[in-house]
Amino acid sequence: MAKRVLIATAKPFASQAVEEIKNICEEKGYEFILKEKYAEQSDLVNAVKDVDALIVRSDKVTSEVIGNADDLKVVVRAGAGYDNLDCEAASQKGIICMNTPGQNSNAVAELAFGMMIYMARGKFNGKSGTELKGKTVGIHAYGNVGLNVARIAKGFDMQVIAFDPYVDNAIMEADGVKPVDSVEELYSQSDYLSIHIPSIPATQRFVNYKLIKQMKKGSVIINTARKEVVCEDGIMKIFAEREDLKYASDIAPIRANEMIEKFEDRVFFTPKKMGAQTLKANINAGVAAIKQIIAYFENGDTTFQVNK
Ligand code: 3PG
Repeated sequence: MAKRVLIATAKPFASQAVEEIKNICEEKGYEFILKEKYAEQSDLVNAVKDVDALIVRSDKVTSEVIGNADDLKVVVRAGAGYDNLDCEAASQKGIICMNTPGQNSNAVAELAFGMMIYMARGKFNGKSGTELKGKTVGIHAYGNVGLNVARIAKGFDMQVIAFDPYVDNAIMEADGVKPVDSVEELYSQSDYLSIHIPSIPATQRFVNYKLIKQMKKGSVIINTARKEVVCEDGIMKIFAEREDLKYASDIAPIRANEMIEKFEDRVFFTPKKMGAQTLKANINAGVAAIKQIIAYFENGDTTFQVNK
């Protein structure tokens, strides 16, 4: 019987990306099933019932979803952060979880600069703003997005510093990036602080009051990672104390309304996560996802497995 591959995306891929994934799938003789823009989590729970493989974006692959997926063998998160997958529940059922690292990172990095300029120009309010040239961008975690931020920053003539205890200094230096020794140093030296840490238990509310307090006068926090890694109480407290700081985040924090009400032009939040929402990123991540599924079924390839 043909393998059944479900794409379940509440926030859909561009239609051209879906078409490409579908073609690859059907060329291999797999059945392609599309469930996009679904409204309820129960829709996802029901949709996985008889599928062999699942491709998602930020869709929540909970233990309930896994529990209902009787034939599921592999889940690919078409993207980098897989904090939306219950990997433990998947492992218990012998289901392989993968991500597609690097496939959408340029799109996310470009959005970080879009947000930097938007904040530097007073959210396009017509008043005199500032420029990125000559400023220091601090990159918090030098992974796929971080290194793209560094590359683009050089085009803006910015100084680039980074902190990442898991990456050799030599790698950053080869990219023309100055590694700093501590996260405190990073935050205290940056005009723009670009967050790229994953959302894992150890990073929840990591960017807190104490850390932000050390930031330079007039600095801007750019969060294209996850809202969970920034301490919202910390933002509320330090922003009330200091009128010079700004915060832009790709996806609204839980306390977004309160922040907007209190700090107005110093904060900006996208209504939906926009970082990877480009045609190129959708094609890259979606096609990588289906190819990884095929490679797994045909050759047992688990290169991108994250629940080892
Ligand atoms: C990622 O982790 O790859 C990005 O946050 C993109 O997420 P999305 O596919 O939900 O837009």
